[in-house]
Amino acid sequence: MQNVVILISGTGSNMAAIVQAAEAGKWSERLGAQVAAVISNKPDAKGLLFAKERGIATAVVEHTAYPSREAFDAALAQKIDEYQPALVVLAGFMRILTPAFVAHYAGRLLNIHPSLLPAFPGLHTHQRAIDAGCRFAGATVHQVTADLDAGPIVEQAVVPILPGDDADTLAARVLTQEHIIYPRAVETFLQKGM
Ligand code: GAR
Repeated sequence: MQNVVILISGTGSNMAAIVQAAEAGKWSERLGAQVAAVISNKPDAKGLLFAKERGIATAVVEHTAYPSREAFDAALAQKIDEYQPALVVLAGFMRILTPAFVAHYAGRLLNIHPSLLPAFPGLHTHQRAIDAGCRFAGATVHQVTADLDAGPIVEQAVVPILPGDDADTLAARVLTQEHIIYPRAVETFLQKGM
């Protein structure tokens, strides 16, 4: 079985979209794949409840409990590796990862970022796109490398920025597209790798 481990920090709507795609698309029968675990760095992440309700293993590795980024990433990797993942999916996981962590999962680590990379890496992407006068925004699924939001692009979706948009209305429009492209990118990976 190809195990997928999904990391979240909050709502987990992208994680939920992937779990639902796995169920609807019969990934376990067709691809020999399953979402094996959902791990959060925050104990109150809403997405943990969704995963538990679906019978998916959950775990919390709190970054505040560790003295350094390196120590947290090592503990996180130890927890992830209990599931021997074919793929690790960052889905709204709001931590910068150390080069050692990224190297450990090289070739099997995906992230989604709510901008049309390479434009607007980092935070506050929607407001920055509006402020820049962009006519279009979007989301990017990419392989994770040691450079923040800069790995090879796997999938993108484009949405218009409409007159009167604020960061919230734009984020909601982008998120609906994230829920389409992220499950698709994960499924493609499980079919053929990166
Ligand atoms: C998503 O929009 C995702 O692209 C973004 O956080 C949101 C999480 O939503 N990720 C980043 O900004 C990573 N830098 P979700 O928890 O409902 O999936």
